[in-house]
Amino acid sequence: MEIRVVPKSITELEADALIVNLFDGVSSPSGATGDVDRALGGAITDLIQSGEIKGKLGEVTVVHTLGRIPARRVLVAGLGKAEAFDLEKVRVVSAAAVRKARDLGAAHVTSIVHGAGIGKLDHKQAAAAVVEGTLLGLYTFKEYQKRGEEDKEVREFTLVEIDAGKARAMADAARVGRIFAEGTNLARDLGNEPPNQLTPSALADRAAKVAEELGLECEVLDAEAMGRLGMGALLGVAQGSAEPPKMAVIKYQGHPGGKETLALVGKGITFDTGGISLKPGQGMEEMKFDMCGAASVVGAMRIIGQLKPKINVLGVIPTAENMPGGKAQRPGDIVRAMNGKTIEIDNTDAEGRLILADAICYARKLGATRIVDIATLTGACVVALGHVASGVVANNDDLAEQVLAAGKASGEKFWRLPAYDEYKKQIKSDYADLKNTGGRPAGAITAGLFLAEFAEETPWAHLDIAGTANELAEVAWQPNKGASGIPARTLARLALSLAERV
Ligand code: BES
Ligand code: MN
Ligand code: ZN
Repeated sequence: MEIRVVPKSITELEADALIVNLFDGVSSPSGATGDVDRALGGAITDLIQSGEIKGKLGEVTVVHTLGRIPARRVLVAGLGKAEAFDLEKVRVVSAAAVRKARDLGAAHVTSIVHGAGIGKLDHKQAAAAVVEGTLLGLYTFKEYQKRGEEDKEVREFTLVEIDAGKARAMADAARVGRIFAEGTNLARDLGNEPPNQLTPSALADRAAKVAEELGLECEVLDAEAMGRLGMGALLGVAQGSAEPPKMAVIKYQGHPGGKETLALVGKGITFDTGGISLKPGQGMEEMKFDMCGAASVVGAMRIIGQLKPKINVLGVIPTAENMPGGKAQRPGDIVRAMNGKTIEIDNTDAEGRLILADAICYARKLGATRIVDIATLTGACVVALGHVASGVVANNDDLAEQVLAAGKASGEKFWRLPAYDEYKKQIKSDYADLKNTGGRPAGAITAGLFLAEFAEETPWAHLDIAGTANELAEVAWQPNKGASGIPARTLARLALSLAERV
C-alpha cells in the first residue's frame, strides 16, 4: 500500500473516502472536521443534532458528499472522551475507520491525523500511530484462499496536514509507524501458517531470510551442533518428531563495542501435540500457534533492523515439533540442559520451558546482558489473565518495569506475576535438579521460575502470551481470528528505549 503525507487543504482532496473525527459530546465540529462540515452545508452538525453521530470511540458514520467536495464520502470517526484520548486510541480509531472505508470499497483513503490538532498529541507520534493502526487493522491472511473479485483492498492512504513543515516531519513518522505494523504483520503471518508448512526448518529459514534482507548475520544450529553444545533439554523435546529441530540466532549489532546485549528468546514449537502426555483432540489445531513467541521475535528483529537503535540485540529462536513418535521422550526421563542442570520430565506437554532452557543458556553464552523470553507457555496464564493481558515473571525489577512501559506505549497489555521463593519447591525433583512441571497451583509462575534457573544471575523477564497470541480479546487493530503478532511492537520499543538509556 502506498502511504503519503500531503500539505493540502482537506476540502480540496480527491478520495474514495475522507476520514475526519469528532470527540464525544462535541456539538459543533471544529478544525478540519469543521472545514468539511461547512463545505457540506452543515451536514455533520445536522447528524450530531439528530443523534446519529455521537463521537463515541470506535463509532464510524458515513456521510455522502454528493459532489460538494472532491472526496466521494466522508467518514466521521468517533474519538471518545477528550480526557481519555491517547496514542492507543489513535490506533484504535484509525483501524476502525479504515476498515469501514475498505468495506465500502474505497481504494484511495485520505485521513486527517487524529490527535495532532485539538487532540494535543505530538504530531509526529500521532502520525506514526495513525499509520500503525491503519496497517494493523487492514491485516488479513489469505495465503491459502483464492482471491475473489469481492476482495476489497485499500491501495492508497494519504494523510493531510496543511502545514508543510509538519507534513514533512509526519512523513518520517509515517515510515516508523509502517515499520512497526509491518513487523507485527510478519509475526502474524508466521503464526497463521499451518504446521505442515511452517516446520522447524521452515521457521529457521524464514528467520534467516529476514536477517538477510536486513543485512544481518544469522546463525542456524542443527541437531548435531546442539548435541555438541549440550542442549539435552531441547533435543529431548525434538526426538519424538521426524522434523529435525533448529536454533536460529539473528544478530543485530547497533552498538559494536557496547557493553549491553539484549537477547529476545522466542518459543518456536511449530506444533504441540503434548507428546506422550498427549493433549485432547478438541482444539488441538490451535497448537499451531505454539510458535508465536518465536514469530514475535522475528517481527521485532525486523523492526529493530530497520529502525537501527544504538544497542546490540540477539533474536534467539529455538524451534522443534512436540510429537509422540516411537523415539519420543517419556515422563520419567531425565535430560541435562546446556548449563549442566538435570531435569526430570514429569509431563512431556511442558515442552516449551525445556527448549527455552537451552536457548536462554545459549543467549548467555553469546554474551546477553539482559534476556527477555516470549512464549505461549501455560494454560494457567490464560486462566489467570484471560485473553486481555500477557503475564510477566522476572528476576529483575528494572527490566520488568521497562517491559511494562514498552507495552503501555504499544497498547499491548502486560501484568507482572509474583515470583516468591516459596513457589520454587513445586519444581523440585526427587531424582534430578528440577522437574518440568510444578502442579496446578500458580502454574504460570512455576513455569517462569523454572526458566529463571537458566537465566541464573542475568537480568531476565519472561512473557507468557498463551492467552494473547492468537485469541486476543477484540481490539480494533486486531479484528481477525488468528495470530495477533503480540508482543513484537513491545519488544521493538523495549530495544529502542534501552538504546536511549546507554
Ligand atoms: N503450549 C502449551 C500452553 C498453552 C495452552 C498455550 C493453551 C495456549 C493455550 C504448553 O506447552 C503446555 O502444554 N503447557 C501445559 C503445562 C503443564 C503440562 C504443566 C499446560 O499449560 O497445560
Ligand atoms: Mn505443551
Ligand atoms: Zn507448548
